[in-house]
Amino acid sequence: MEQITQIFSQLPATEIGHCTEAHIPIFEEVLEMTKARSVLEIGFNAGHSAVLWLSLSEAELLSVDKGVPWSEQASAVLTEQFPDRFTYLQCDSREILSELPDRNYDLLFIDGGHSYSMTINDLYLAFVLDIPYVLIDDVKDWRVKLALDAFISNVPLQEINTWHERNAITLYQLKERM
Ligand SMILES: C[S@@+](CC[C@H](N)C(=O)[O-])C[C@H]1O[C@@H](n2cnc3c(N)ncnc32)[C@H](O)[C@@H]1O
Repeated sequence: MEQITQIFSQLPATEIGHCTEAHIPIFEEVLEMTKARSVLEIGFNAGHSAVLWLSLSEAELLSVDKGVPWSEQASAVLTEQFPDRFTYLQCDSREILSELPDRNYDLLFIDGGHSYSMTINDLYLAFVLDIPYVLIDDVKDWRVKLALDAFISNVPLQEINTWHERNAITLYQLKERM
């Protein structure tokens, strides 16, 4: 916890909502449930959730963001702290399929654009990249919820757990991989 707070203090200020120390128990549970060794994160912002993934596990993390003014500064902090396990990719998540390194991911964390079409796009990544677990933030946002409902009617996702921190966050597993 102290290490996390210390790294948070080095991150640039952000005007966008982000994870905090209150998410530590959630991330710990998700890491325990999924045993993730490789995480793909959509929505890096100022790096708060990235700090949690990297501090609470030994997993490798690829964080993607279309880029906000403070992302480069934040990614420099993460690269210095976790030089062997952290990669930042500035890219719109609608275009990442051609940009991704050839690697398997155990967990997809979706916290990017919250529109209906962006959420569908990001959920679809789990399907095409064959990622067994999806953690999605802000599931109380009506657009995210609508997209989830539509997606689940076509792709077999099983809800594993929902945590009600902030705007609620849900872990799903692709049923084919259960
Ligand atoms: C809520 S913030 C992420 C917060 C971060 N996960 C945290 O907790 O520290 C959402 C981020 O998604 C990014 N984003 C929005 N649309 C995107 C897109 N189409 N592709 C990639 N990133 C996107 C925004 O630039 C923003 O930084």
